[in-house]
Amino acid sequence: MKILVTGGCGFIGSNLIRHLLASTIHSIVNVDKLTYAGNPNSLAQFADDPRYTFCRLDIADPVAMHDVFSRHAPDAVIHLAAESHVDRSIDGPAAFIETNVVGTFELLTAATDYFAQLTGDKADEFRLLHVSTDEVFGALGATGQFTESTAYDPHSPYSATKAASDHLVRAWHTTYGLPTIVTNCSNNYGPYQFPEKLIPLMVIKAISGQPMPVYGKGENVRDWLYVIDHARAINRVLTAGVVGQTYNIGGDSERRNLDLVLSVCAILDELHPRAGGPYSDLIEFVADRPGHDFRYAIDSTKIRTELGWEPKFDFETSLRQTVQWYLTHRSWWQAILDGNYQLERLGNATTTNKS
Ligand code: NAD
Ligand code: DAU
Repeated sequence: MKILVTGGCGFIGSNLIRHLLASTIHSIVNVDKLTYAGNPNSLAQFADDPRYTFCRLDIADPVAMHDVFSRHAPDAVIHLAAESHVDRSIDGPAAFIETNVVGTFELLTAATDYFAQLTGDKADEFRLLHVSTDEVFGALGATGQFTESTAYDPHSPYSATKAASDHLVRAWHTTYGLPTIVTNCSNNYGPYQFPEKLIPLMVIKAISGQPMPVYGKGENVRDWLYVIDHARAINRVLTAGVVGQTYNIGGDSERRNLDLVLSVCAILDELHPRAGGPYSDLIEFVADRPGHDFRYAIDSTKIRTELGWEPKFDFETSLRQTVQWYLTHRSWWQAILDGNYQLERLGNATTTNKS
């Protein structure tokens, strides 16, 4: 089975490709623009692997996208390419509109034209799986969970563009018969995550002796999903999911941000003790994210009961392994910090920067 993955040089994409290629039955065409978040080093092990092809392309480029479908004739598409960071969407939403909305539209158009000329098993088995987020459902209070029928209520420029892309994908199924499936998942964590995101940011700030910035009072809650459990879920949905359906994917591991950061500190105290005292001394409460969603929580009953998937990685163990990974893979993240990003605060803008 040949799978076209978009955004394969990002955090989830690179872990997914590694997971799929470990099953030995797939070949992968990875379409990635290599934005600031795209990192070919994350897939360096496949540079000479005949099962892996990399195409540096923008999904919003219609000619390039049509060409990639006709050249590679994939059996399925897994669409992950996106601008993914909420804070950056506050500072500069234009790139989010361009990739998440226009890019998804161009991908759907190219996929529909390609699908229209497929016949037989190749047509029957073709799927486009769109990877989306629980943030499209808005924010929860202290109780409740998002289900597949929760009404959309996105709050950030990022989640608004992801919501738009979900609607486009479903519209292309209903209107043009493209065999699409949508997944909405919670916060992923694991190796190869760009260090603007909470867990790698906290590890790197801590071991660099810098203040660890917790937004507001640290009371916001996220549901953490180990990235390999997410890859397993995507693979399961691709092979067994029902066309036209949506599946929520969660880790059943809700944590308050402050508690999560304290756990990271405790793991570091053990693995990489700090001379000046416990790492928790470095925690600093900073101005909150504008429009900060209070709590996300996923009800995964549908994927569990209909497709037999459930998370298998325990949160405490996997968090510890993740912290350990950043400790032992300094060259991976140091190369990023040697570029355009040095762990600075993002998402402070109070007006829209159109650039
Ligand atoms: P990421 O930012 O780490 O990676 C995104 C990748 O997309 C990068 O390799 C980047 O170069 C590529 N890309 C961006 N614009 C592109 C374009 N125009 N054309 C081609 N490639 C482009 O993101 P991630 O955390 O791996 O997230 C992947 C997907 O999963 C996104 O769609 C995101 O919305 C979704 N998601 C992420 C999480 C999470 O916790 N990380 C949770 C739920 C859903
Ligand atoms: O819920 C799924 C979403 O999870 C994905 O769709 C997004 O692509 C992904 O980035 C993630 O979004 P979050 O905004 O939840 O992730 P982030 O790592 O940016 O922040 C996690 C929480 O930690 C959030 O409540 C904000 C807080 N935070 C974040 C940073 C970067 C801090 O307190 N301090 C920080 O420095």
